[in-house]
Amino acid sequence: ISLNPTIIVIFGGTGDLNLRKLAPALYNLYAEGYMPEKFAIIGTARRPLTDVKFRETLMEGVNSFSRTGKVHKEKWDNFSQNVHYNPIDVKDSASFDTLKDTLDKFKNEFGPDTQIVYYLAVSPDLFPSIAKRLAKFKLAENEDNCRIVVEKPFGKDLETARELNEILRERFKEKQIYRIDHYLGKETVQNIMAFRFANSFLEPLWNRNYIDHVQISVTEQLGVGDRGGYYDGSGALRDMIQNHLLQLLCIIGMETPINFDADEIRDKKVDVLKAMRPFSAEDIRFNTVRGQYTKGWIRGDEVPGYRSEKDVDKQSNTETFAAIKFFVDNWRWKGIPFYVRTGKRLSQTSSLITIQFKDVPHQVFPASVAEHWQQNRLIISIQPEMSIRLQVQGKRPGLDMTLNPVDMVFDYKGTYTTESPEAYETLLLDVMTGDQTQFMRADQVEIAWELLMPVINAWESKKSLSFPNYAADSWGPEDAEALIARDGFHWFTLPLNKD
Ligand code: BG6
Repeated sequence: ISLNPTIIVIFGGTGDLNLRKLAPALYNLYAEGYMPEKFAIIGTARRPLTDVKFRETLMEGVNSFSRTGKVHKEKWDNFSQNVHYNPIDVKDSASFDTLKDTLDKFKNEFGPDTQIVYYLAVSPDLFPSIAKRLAKFKLAENEDNCRIVVEKPFGKDLETARELNEILRERFKEKQIYRIDHYLGKETVQNIMAFRFANSFLEPLWNRNYIDHVQISVTEQLGVGDRGGYYDGSGALRDMIQNHLLQLLCIIGMETPINFDADEIRDKKVDVLKAMRPFSAEDIRFNTVRGQYTKGWIRGDEVPGYRSEKDVDKQSNTETFAAIKFFVDNWRWKGIPFYVRTGKRLSQTSSLITIQFKDVPHQVFPASVAEHWQQNRLIISIQPEMSIRLQVQGKRPGLDMTLNPVDMVFDYKGTYTTESPEAYETLLLDVMTGDQTQFMRADQVEIAWELLMPVINAWESKKSLSFPNYAADSWGPEDAEALIARDGFHWFTLPLNKD
C-alpha cells in the first residue's frame, strides 16, 4: 500500500496503552513494510522527556509486549528516528501552540499531502478538552487529511456518550472520527464476515429455522489488576458488553451487506441493534445476571477478591461478571435467544461464539447407538485458539453402528504459516488508509447504550444483596448457569489449550 506521509500524535504517549499496544503495533507495521515512507510519531504527555528517553521507554514497551518479541536492532534504530516527544498539558492552550509548531515543521518537510492522526490514548475525561483545543487551534481543519482516534470508554452511559458525540460532531466530520473497539481488529473476528459472506452454504441455514440459539462468551482469568480505579466505575456490562460483545452479536446477526463499504457494513450492524428487544423489568429480573469475584486460586497463586483489589471500593457493588439473554426481533432471528456472558477471574481465558443448530426433525437411529447425542454446533473460537469448528455426529469406526460427535476443524495454526497481526496493527493501518469499516459510528455507540440503559439503571438502583458471589477460578455465579439451563442449554466451553 502506498500511504501519504503521516504524522501520528499520541496523547497519552507515556501511558500503558501506548507502551503495550500502540508502539508495538506501529513498530510491527514498520518492520513489515506497512508504514508510510515518510512518517513521524509524536508522543505527548505532561512530563518533560527527551526524544532519546521517550524512544527508550517505547523500546522497553515493544520488547515486553510485542507479539514478535524483542526488536530487531537495525529496524528499531531506523523506526525510532521517526519517534519524537512533545510535552503537552492538554488543559493548557499554550501547549497547543507548541504542538502546532511541531506539526508545521513536519508538514513542511513531508509536503502538502501529509495526513495527521490524533490518537486519544488518555483518560476519557480528557477527550473533550483535547477535541476542543484541536479545533480551536485549527489543528484538524482539513477533513480529508486529519483524523481523530477515540479510545474506549466512549461515554459512561447514553447521556455522556451523546454529549461526547456532540462535542466531536461540532468540531469534526464523522468521516474524521475513529471510535475504536479493538475486538473488531482481531483477525478471527474479521474472519467471521469472510466466513459468513464469502461462502454460499451457510446463508440458507443462518436463521431461526435452523439455529436453536447463539452463545457469545468472553471469559478472562485475569482480575482487574491495576485498573481498579477505572473498572470500579464501569463494570463488566459497560466495559465489555456495551462494546465488544454487542459488536460480536451484530456480526453474527447482521443481514448480508451489499458490499464492503464502511457505511454499508455499519448500517447493517445498526439494524441488528435496532431490532434488539428492549428490556422490560421482568426481562431484567429473569434474563440478566451479575456477579463479583471473591478470592481464590488461579494457576496455583492466591488471588484477592474484587473488593480487596487496588483502587476498588471495599463495599463496591460493581459487577465483574455479567450474563444476559438477548433477543433480536426480526424475521431472521425472532424467538432465538442470544446468550452473552463475560467476566473476570473465571476458569479460562477464552472468547467463543457457539451457534447451536436445531435437532434433526426425526431420529433415524435408535437412541441406543448414540454414545452422546449432540445437536450440530458451529464454534467460532476467537482466542486463544483461533479456529472454526463444526461439530457433527459421525459413525465411530467398528462393526457396530455407534454415533459420536466429532469436530471438523479449521485451525489457523494448522492452516496458515503466517502469524496473525495484532488488532491494533490492523486498526492503525485502517486509520492511516482512511477505512472506517471496523470503527464505531456515532449511532452505533448510542443505540448500544440505549439498549443497555434499563439494565444499568436497574442494577445501579438495586444494590445486589448477594454480592460478592463467585469464587475466582469458577465459571461465575450459579445464576448464570440457571439462566441458560432454564431453556435446556448449558454454556459451552472448549477443552483447555495445551499451550
Ligand atoms: C478491554 C477491557 O476493552 O478488553 C478489559 O477494558 C479487557 O477489561 C480487554 O480485559 C479484553 O481484551 P482482549 O483483547 O484481551 O480479549
